[in-house]
Amino acid sequence: TWTTGNVIEEQVEAIREQVGTKRAICGLSGGVDSAVAAALVQKAIGSQLTCVYVDHGLMRKGETEQVEKDFVAATGVQLKVVDAEDRFLTALKGVSDPEEKRKIIGREFIRVFEQAQAEIIAEAGESGEPVEFLVQGTLYPDVVESGGGTGTANIKSHHNVGGLPEDLEFQLIEPLRKLFKDEVRMVGQELGLPEEIVQRQPFPGPGLGIRIVGEVTKERLDLLREADAIAREELTAAGLDREIWQCPVVLLADVRSVGVQGDGRTYGHPIVLRPVSSEDAMTADWSRLPYDVLGKISTRITNEVRDVNRVVLDVTSKPPGTIEWE
Ligand code: XMP
Repeated sequence: TWTTGNVIEEQVEAIREQVGTKRAICGLSGGVDSAVAAALVQKAIGSQLTCVYVDHGLMRKGETEQVEKDFVAATGVQLKVVDAEDRFLTALKGVSDPEEKRKIIGREFIRVFEQAQAEIIAEAGESGEPVEFLVQGTLYPDVVESGGGTGTANIKSHHNVGGLPEDLEFQLIEPLRKLFKDEVRMVGQELGLPEEIVQRQPFPGPGLGIRIVGEVTKERLDLLREADAIAREELTAAGLDREIWQCPVVLLADVRSVGVQGDGRTYGHPIVLRPVSSEDAMTADWSRLPYDVLGKISTRITNEVRDVNRVVLDVTSKPPGTIEWE
């Protein structure tokens, strides 16, 4: 019979056998799948695993800290955090086109990951065991979508952030290959991962970079982070997290509208709320959120976030709208 206990036991044994005394690395995105995969491999091989987390400066408020503190506390994993904010923001300078942004973010991510990987190998020195394995949080639906998968390092381009290069010479460890998302969450829970990680809603690899319509700058990211944190706080307080698939908060950086605050005229940017309900993100419907919750989010964002004077609600299904705006 299927139990999370059985799955964990079986995988731990298989991973130990596969890796032996060698070493493995795992890219963490902050999402559920990579976190659970890492925790499972950590349980099997302990310090033979090193996780790499690339902070591209496009994360939401508190996200990097969550990986650094909560995940490490729960698993005891060896973590390498790479602060790559400057690098990403420099590369994104002057770019507004969504596809171009995605390509740049994917490319920079690969470079940083490769650098981190070389450092890990160098740190081990010549006497160290080779780093031969790469842990991936591939789920069953990913395997089906990509046509069965062959177990070689041919990773889908949307995986984590923009995909890893196809010529990475690693053997893959994919302990979640037979599982669906809800099962992955159960395994994560059993492994003792905190609720905030296990029940996390989907968040795109390119992060807030594709939630700013217009050029991505540090100032705009900070502004969006504030607005997003308020929306998430109020949705959580209203007990709506499980009901909503996810709620992108989007900054229309190239749009301004006139408003009034106190005695003065304002000329600020709109923030879009995009709450959706969905089963698998392939299709989605806009969530009918209670008006009082929407009202509270709107009041708080316009009061607390400088330069934002309007909050609008996206009431488009997917199709025709995608969940993200870019
Ligand atoms: P769309 O916008 O295509 O999004 O309706 C569908 C789901 O995928 C997420 N998404 C991504 N996830 N890397 C990811 O890991 C990406 O580049 C990416 N783009 C979109 C989106 O948040 C939604 O859950």
